[in-house]
Amino acid sequence: MTFSYFTEKLLRWYPVHRRDLPWRGTKDPYIIWLSEIILQQTRVAQGLPYFRTFVEKFPTVSQLAAAPEEEILRTWQGLGYYSRARNLHACAREIVDKWEGSFPDNYTDLLKLKGVGPYTAAAIASFSYREAVAVVDGNVYRLLSRYFGIYSDIGSTAGKKEFETLANQIIPEKQPDQYNQAIMEFGALQCVPKNPDCGSCPLRVNCFARKNDMVAALPVKEKK
Ligand code: ADE
Repeated sequence: MTFSYFTEKLLRWYPVHRRDLPWRGTKDPYIIWLSEIILQQTRVAQGLPYFRTFVEKFPTVSQLAAAPEEEILRTWQGLGYYSRARNLHACAREIVDKWEGSFPDNYTDLLKLKGVGPYTAAAIASFSYREAVAVVDGNVYRLLSRYFGIYSDIGSTAGKKEFETLANQIIPEKQPDQYNQAIMEFGALQCVPKNPDCGSCPLRVNCFARKNDMVAALPVKEKK
């Protein structure tokens, strides 16, 4: 199966609709990593001022690594989930101590870093190094489940794995960076959780959920 219709539509939609966010203008893995850690469990509007302050105070990973932990925790204050701030510091030190101050340049090595899971490793590998590895977050589950008609439970390990496998079959070798940004932005702005505007959706003619009146029912998330 080829996915060029799906990927082309997303790649065309993205430049027209994308938000202009400060971490989108760079290939610097440090800036991308910082933005992704801040944006975990945090809305863009809430994370933005923190992102700007961190970049201003700690422009490089070495400066972040050299900063006292209290200063990092103070700068983080208000964002919650303080283990993220501690991992941020530990990861920065790891990069200085074990990676000669430069982020690893591939998905497999990025995964070895403290606090960097599959999502963040895929974001850095694709946005910074154009490696064709799919980012899979809530936005991606929602779009894939609706468009392709996948009923697997996104709360289960097997379900997550299934979406990850599909996402990695879909991602194009050409422009994987733009494609990953596009699919997340599409989920955030167009294929939204509640009452999406399917009338204006560029994917509507082939969307399983739209054709089968399943938009509100997908993705499936079983109650624990
Ligand atoms: N949320 C998490 N990562 C994001 C990104 N790169 N752009 C916009 N929102 C995000």
